[in-house]
Amino acid sequence: MTMTDGLDIVAVIGSLRRESLTRKLVTALATLAPPSLRIELLGVGDLDLYDEDLEAALPEPWRAFRERIRRADGVLFATPEYNRSIPGVLKNAIDVGSRPYGESVWAGKPAAVLSVSPGALGAFGANHHLRQCLVFLDMPTLQQPEAYVGHANELLDPGGNFVDGAKREWLRQFLRAFEGWVSRQRIPLPT
Ligand code: FNR
Repeated sequence: MTMTDGLDIVAVIGSLRRESLTRKLVTALATLAPPSLRIELLGVGDLDLYDEDLEAALPEPWRAFRERIRRADGVLFATPEYNRSIPGVLKNAIDVGSRPYGESVWAGKPAAVLSVSPGALGAFGANHHLRQCLVFLDMPTLQQPEAYVGHANELLDPGGNFVDGAKREWLRQFLRAFEGWVSRQRIPLPT
């Protein structure tokens, strides 16, 4: 994407649940983004479980996923916490994007992590387990502000609007910081 279109951000959603708090939050978050930042949600539920044998007959969902990430200017990982780590479906998506060896679509792509939980700790464990992967994948990842979203079941009204203006503004600031980060780190696509 060109700068005139704004930055193209893919939000990878680590939950498959229809009523996912994580997806609802990112949907609301996308409405807070400045015009210079376009956020598109990307599900991971259609990706075959990673099996290197499948590289010989590439599953279409793998191809499409890799291509979408490759085109993006940045990646926002939005994840719930399962047993103090990331859900297996998100790890699978990370693995799919990372191969074939030497052709990872993640490499060099600016990223941010938004961890989401109805609990008080804001999925801190998932956030930091994910960061361990991002180090290895060579994704320059926004450090501050850290985004541990707790009590996520109380954030939005039934219409998907933020209940608390202060939390909404905090998330807007997070997006601004991410926009600045992606602008500074962005690698132009080869022509
Ligand atoms: C959870 N949940 C959970 N929450 C948390 O804060 N820390 C945790 O370690 C776990 N572990 C966990 C394991 C499994 C298998 C499930 C199904 C759930 C609760 C979790 O935060 C809650 O279900 C969220 O609503 C999941 O996010 P979505 O699907 O609403 O986006």
